[in-house]
Amino acid sequence: MPEPTTPAHGPEPLELSAGVHQLCSCDRSHHGWLCDGAHLGTGRVSYELRLSEPATVQMCRCSRSHRYPLCDGSHGAPARRPWWKPWG
Ligand code: FES
Repeated sequence: MPEPTTPAHGPEPLELSAGVHQLCSCDRSHHGWLCDGAHLGTGRVSYELRLSEPATVQMCRCSRSHRYPLCDGSHGAPARRPWWKPWG
């Protein structure tokens, strides 16, 4: 069995060409990270990404990113203490 190329909850690389891309931020798209309009009626919007040249972007798979659907490194941050346990 081949080894996975990325950690289970780390970012997933996505190769994109230059241009404007609508990225899915609702997890309902049938085209993976690319928006197919499935968010309509949910109150969510797609994430517009403009690239001046082809690039590989890192997509968030842990849902902790503050720039979702793009990875911001939050997957490596220690888990925060629950709000109901402020001390100890
Ligand atoms: S995978 Fe990196 S912040 Fe979610």
